[in-house]
Amino acid sequence: MAQYDLIVIGSGPGGYVCAIRAAQLGLKTACVEGRETLGGTCLNVGCIPSKALLHASHQLHEAEHNFAKMGLMAEAPKVDWAKMLAYKDDVIGQNTKGIEFLFKKNKVDWIKGWASIPEAGKVKVGDEVHEAKAIVIASGSESAPVPGAEVEVDEEVVVTSTGALELGRIPGSMVVIGGGVIGLELGSVYTRLGTDVTVVEYLDGIVPGQDAEVAKQFQKILKKQGIKFVTGAAVSKVERAGDGATVHYAMRKDGAEKSLDADVVLVATGRRPYTEGLGLDLKTSQRGQIEVDDRYATSVSGVHAIGDVIEGPMLAHKAEDEGMAVAEMLAGQKPHVNYDVIPGVIYTHPEVASVGLTEELAKEKGHKIKVGQFSFMGNGRAKANFAADGFVKMIADAETDRILGCHVIGPMAGDLIHEVCVAMEFGAAAEDLARTCHAHPTYSEAMREAALACGDGAIHA
Ligand code: NAI
Repeated sequence: MAQYDLIVIGSGPGGYVCAIRAAQLGLKTACVEGRETLGGTCLNVGCIPSKALLHASHQLHEAEHNFAKMGLMAEAPKVDWAKMLAYKDDVIGQNTKGIEFLFKKNKVDWIKGWASIPEAGKVKVGDEVHEAKAIVIASGSESAPVPGAEVEVDEEVVVTSTGALELGRIPGSMVVIGGGVIGLELGSVYTRLGTDVTVVEYLDGIVPGQDAEVAKQFQKILKKQGIKFVTGAAVSKVERAGDGATVHYAMRKDGAEKSLDADVVLVATGRRPYTEGLGLDLKTSQRGQIEVDDRYATSVSGVHAIGDVIEGPMLAHKAEDEGMAVAEMLAGQKPHVNYDVIPGVIYTHPEVASVGLTEELAKEKGHKIKVGQFSFMGNGRAKANFAADGFVKMIADAETDRILGCHVIGPMAGDLIHEVCVAMEFGAAAEDLARTCHAHPTYSEAMREAALACGDGAIHA
């Protein structure tokens, strides 16, 4: 039996960041992980591998669609799927080994195995019971079943995002159930690789929660790229048929029953907290999220929880921030997480990024707002790079000019959004961004132009 100041359960972005921070602050720390490699869903079967496949398939798209326009007359590359998967696995390996190195460097013990909490202050892994003054649960999430539908996932023909990252071959056709982040990122990958992809979405539009204008433009662009959409359709059943499967759905408007056949069906209708085997009676919400107070303390004394297992967006960076915060609290510091400034990014091409309030939400909350919009068509760099599809939309308070939110669909949107995050953290006005010199020619100039559009007007509109 070993004794620790802190044992973290789970080594995803929430857990490993928490463990490293705690060790840096002088706490004797261990992290329990049952997978063969560290890094959780994000590094092993989520963010990182999907970004590798998005990158590779985007390069193919560029070669097929834009090279000739620039006078690069090479033949489009042929896809070696096995090699592409090996590249993705190599990227995973580099990242997961990186966390192992960071654990060693910071003297965090990796306890290998699956943890349970027999009682407060104790963590059981295999036959060993370890003692800890504090425990942080960072056990993440798993794919949720399609609500109200009969769907059996086999990870070969009917897959979640995990199976979709290691298909035996590039399928000829794919039905994606759910037009959310996972469905559209992976749907994009396979569309670029030549698969005939249809997204079946329950709501009338894709990416619920995004700014409505951005969502509409996004769907239009994805359609142009070849993704088909069936919206307003509730999936009721997926049946295995021959080597593929049939997806049955009903149109919500008139109840008409329809079906689609596909080689592969990707289930992407959300994720749910993963708390299996923890063995502790914790207070949870109806949706299975562990309830915590503003110090991430659960209903059991000495046991904390962060990341996807608690309330809030299921995002790696939100979990990281909570991991840092809880470690700092346990070390006696007074950190805080600003939940109003958590960016969200969809890593398609173009990317979609947002922070703060949407136009709809700002109005709903009673703000008087002004909206500054700027199209990438007016950005020289975007035009040169065949990346002028999209726009920046800045939302500011009509009276104070304070930035309330920003929504970007366009090149490198996931990076561009951070200047607005910093501005919002500092309580900046749109004019502050508009008066900040931005290098030319960069995509970032579009952010400044949108800020200018909140005032007297953009220059290149
Ligand atoms: P999601 O919640 O983003 O989207 C699920 C979609 O499925 C919704 O649009 C919903 O209306 C639809 N749906 C639900 N039931 C349906 C039915 N019966 N028939 C048709 N459509 C149905 O969930 P997703 O994409 O699975 O992602 C899960 C989580 O992972 C999200 O919280 C997401 O933020 C996170 N994630 C984030 C990424 C990023 O930040 N880039 C990447 C991947 C995942």
